[in-house]
Amino acid sequence: MVSYKKLGLVNTKKMFAKAVKGGYAIPAFNFNTMEQMQAIIQAAVETKSPVIMQVSKGARKYANPTILRYMAEGAVQYAKELGCKKPQIVLHLDHGDSYETCKSCIDSGFSSVMIDGSSLPFKDNIKLTKKVVNYAHKHDVTVEAELGVLAGVEDEVQAEESHYTKPEEVIEFATKTGCDSLAISIGTSHGAYKFKPEQCTRDPKTGKLIPPPLAFDVLKAVEKKLPGFPIVLHGSSSVPQEHVDTINKFGGKLPDAVGIPEEQLRKAAKSAVCKINIDSDSRLAMTAAIRKHFAEHPEHFDPRQYLTPARDAMKQLYIHKIVKVLGSNNKL
Ligand code: G3H
Ligand code: 13P
Ligand code: ZN
Repeated sequence: MVSYKKLGLVNTKKMFAKAVKGGYAIPAFNFNTMEQMQAIIQAAVETKSPVIMQVSKGARKYANPTILRYMAEGAVQYAKELGCKKPQIVLHLDHGDSYETCKSCIDSGFSSVMIDGSSLPFKDNIKLTKKVVNYAHKHDVTVEAELGVLAGVEDEVQAEESHYTKPEEVIEFATKTGCDSLAISIGTSHGAYKFKPEQCTRDPKTGKLIPPPLAFDVLKAVEKKLPGFPIVLHGSSSVPQEHVDTINKFGGKLPDAVGIPEEQLRKAAKSAVCKINIDSDSRLAMTAAIRKHFAEHPEHFDPRQYLTPARDAMKQLYIHKIVKVLGSNNKL
């Protein structure tokens, strides 16, 4: 058993309470590679922001769970090396799909886990979440749960259609499970294709897709039922058009990719939404930089040559999210 406290990580308890009170949201960035980890830490240190580094099932499969755990430990030391005296870094399991996976993460140094029982019937979701909470809380690890189903076409996280969270269920769910935060469904979804073109309108001037607004009425109703309770938004990438355009310009093919407009996330961050998950935007920034680099330097073959601009592009993206969207800068 390795306690996250020994690794210099923190859980989400105080961080979320502060964020809800302060009207901002903590960035939750997924990482699979060293470059992503470095970019996340550089951005968090430069902006003086707390940060959640999250690991999905797919990331564990790709990079190996032990390596990711050591990278997070390294991330704390790296933040200190960059001049941050007291980094506030959470290592979080994203979309944990079983008690066993959550337990294994808790035992190996994660400070926070998500148990995603959103596809289960309500009572089974409660039962599974409660089991994870009981174990996690013994080790002072915080637990995110989910109610409502997100639509999406991400490889590891799939759902045919979304079902908004039912506000009338949240009190019973939060009370019976004892979870520390709740991911809700209000119209966000995973991946770079969050809406079908027929769900959007088109800007007559640019021809670009304009997505439908998030269900802020559902969010408001949830907040009314659970005042001050930490709420989480998954699937919150905005799919920056500049990166999509660069990818398409240099040989990629991402037609009609569309995300959540940043002004809607800004609005959500001011409410009880205190954790906003962003993964796809970092993938887009990295891919755009690499495609551009290869187009401009066909003679390059040293990964450091193309991963350096890729890492810089991700860092700029993370800084932009922290300062211009979530408002978590200067909160250490
Ligand atoms: O919520 C999904 C995250 O974007 C992780 O995606 O399972 O492909 O690593 P992944
Ligand atoms: P995006 O695909 O919108 O980046 O969502 C990521 C996410 O929700 C991770 O859990
Ligand atoms: Zn998610």
